[in-house]
Amino acid sequence: MFADRIEGKWIKAFEEVFKLCQVKPNETVVILSETQSREINVHITELALQNLGIRPAHVKLVSPINKYNIPIRSTGASQAIDGDLAVLAALCASDFIVDLTVEGLLHSPETAEILKSGARILMVSNEHPEALERLLPDVDLETKVKIAAKKLREAKQMHVYSEAGTDLNIGLVDAPAVGVWGYTAKKGTMSHWPGGMVVAFPRSKQVNGKLVINRGDINLTFKKYVESPITLGIKNDFVVDILGEGVDVDLMKNYFSVWNDKNAYAVSHVGWGMNLKARYEALSMYDQRDTNGTELRALAGNFLFSTGANEFAGRTTAGHFDIPILNTTITLDGKKVVEKGKLK
Ligand SMILES: [Fe+2]
Repeated sequence: MFADRIEGKWIKAFEEVFKLCQVKPNETVVILSETQSREINVHITELALQNLGIRPAHVKLVSPINKYNIPIRSTGASQAIDGDLAVLAALCASDFIVDLTVEGLLHSPETAEILKSGARILMVSNEHPEALERLLPDVDLETKVKIAAKKLREAKQMHVYSEAGTDLNIGLVDAPAVGVWGYTAKKGTMSHWPGGMVVAFPRSKQVNGKLVINRGDINLTFKKYVESPITLGIKNDFVVDILGEGVDVDLMKNYFSVWNDKNAYAVSHVGWGMNLKARYEALSMYDQRDTNGTELRALAGNFLFSTGANEFAGRTTAGHFDIPILNTTITLDGKKVVEKGKLK
């Protein structure tokens, strides 16, 4: 689809994002990658940082063995560091880390310790640079996401419903919520590019109702638009019914069950996309190896539903689905934040 050569415009795009992260020449900057990383992004990162007067260090890991023997996609929970103390020491001694691992450090076991050291992390999602270029973050997006994250943090109850039949109640009392706008300049924090979404991690036994994954919604683990509806019955966080006909429901049932782990059926995070630059059709424009699907997570107005690990509900698992649902209405304590798939 693309010629894998570096374009000057991509170096400029990376520079813009690093400037938003307020990276300074006197800071210690590490480019974290692995042998299976998208090499072009690693190279562009190095060149862009140099243009800003920074001489970064590379920490390059050998991509880990997949201990599950099951294909894992876009979980945001890289296992690449695997507790390596030398690597951790290097990361904790840095000011700014550009995370180019395949899965990203978002939910990795080592991330909390790295952030506690004061380092800030920008996870560059494993996208083709052509997508990153289109989805440059800006201050306007930061402002909007911060407002939405505050609303989500303060809300006690989320209700999600649609004409397709979704009717989901989510208790949010004490649920951690974060906004992601695509860059971070603050010590000890992490963001990812592309950004433009808010997510909450409900506490245990807070999610009940029905979720209809309608034709045209997206299963990002499989990187495909759903072609026949799937209805999930959810009781006290756990998917207890999976109804529907066709390949999509079969794929989903299979991938749920392959983990042989009850927690794989439970809700991970819930939220909505806020990035007006993100395009619905994007997934059809890239070969699967050229996209990690973060554009669809950020798609403005989608209800981002996911299953899998939720440490705030006391559940860990490696199985993970991220499912952007279109055309829903989302309310927080009765107030609409998304109406029929459009941001309010
Ligand atoms: Fe997720």
